[in-house]
Amino acid sequence: MKRALTADGAHSLYDAGSGVTMAFVQMSMGELLANLQTNFGKDFSNYRLSCIQRRVALRMSTLKIATLDDYMAYLTGNPKEIEQLLDTVTIHVTEFFRDAEVFDAVAKDILPAIVSRKLHSPSRTIRVWSAGCSTGEEAYSLAILIIRHLRANGIELALEVYGTDVSKEACAVAREGIYAARKVEGVPGEARRKYFEAKGPDYRVVSEVQRCVKFSVHDLFLPSPFSLLDLVVCRNVLIHFDHAVRNDVLGRFHAALGDHGMIILGKSEAVMGSALARYELIDPRNKIYKKIVRRDS
Ligand SMILES: C[S@@+](CC[C@H](N)C(=O)[O-])C[C@H]1O[C@@H](n2cnc3c(N)ncnc32)[C@H](O)[C@@H]1O
Repeated sequence: MKRALTADGAHSLYDAGSGVTMAFVQMSMGELLANLQTNFGKDFSNYRLSCIQRRVALRMSTLKIATLDDYMAYLTGNPKEIEQLLDTVTIHVTEFFRDAEVFDAVAKDILPAIVSRKLHSPSRTIRVWSAGCSTGEEAYSLAILIIRHLRANGIELALEVYGTDVSKEACAVAREGIYAARKVEGVPGEARRKYFEAKGPDYRVVSEVQRCVKFSVHDLFLPSPFSLLDLVVCRNVLIHFDHAVRNDVLGRFHAALGDHGMIILGKSEAVMGSALARYELIDPRNKIYKKIVRRDS
């Protein structure tokens, strides 16, 4: 009896002897997840099952592997495949100034308030976290936007932007800060000229911006490494997580934010369930939320 996972993620049991295929729901996927955890130390259980099913099916079809058993065997014989699978599950699509109106809202509605608070606070450092930053475009876009605002208004404040991602490879690309010309097209003209320099056929983020942005590998299922943040931007990441886990992650962001902190989620994401008690929605279109601080007893 062979276990099969079809390209659309459905499961079946296939008996080669009789040629009979029987419905096989979830069990085989559960086994695969347990196997990945035990043998490779990778916990995929926090991701949406449908998402993992699709991605495993994609890897199997790329590798021309027909059954889940054979895929398990392939994983064991090819140590790099587990990283490939992780990379496939954690989609890295991103771009500079993705959803331009969100960045406009940061510039108009969020930044002036942060700046005026910082000018009257002892820390004088703006602290931003791009959580699930992929190859760095979001973190650099935030840094460019804030640096432009500070320079344009002659404001002397320090800036720290933290970019984190679970993918080592994505973080390595982010740290280099070198992007193909077509990737840089999304940067508004004047900012492109000022904050990127040509490097052969590519473009490199200038050192003034790179100095403000620190990238590190971090899994959002672990406690936050940051505190007293002014803004957490976590867009198009939670959507891949299981519902219960999203609330845990939002709880960690809450703890990592300073009292006036804000979070920005992706356009198709929202604070839900028990996390609603922690955040007030202040811009529904751009999914911007303000931290609710409770001073109970
Ligand atoms: C679609 S990209 C989003 C990039 C960027 N935030 C944006 O909206 O353009 C999702 C990123 O989330 C990262 N990710 C997935 N699971 C993660 C986890 N458990 N911890 C940290 N990052 C994770 C992926 O590696 C991927 O780079």
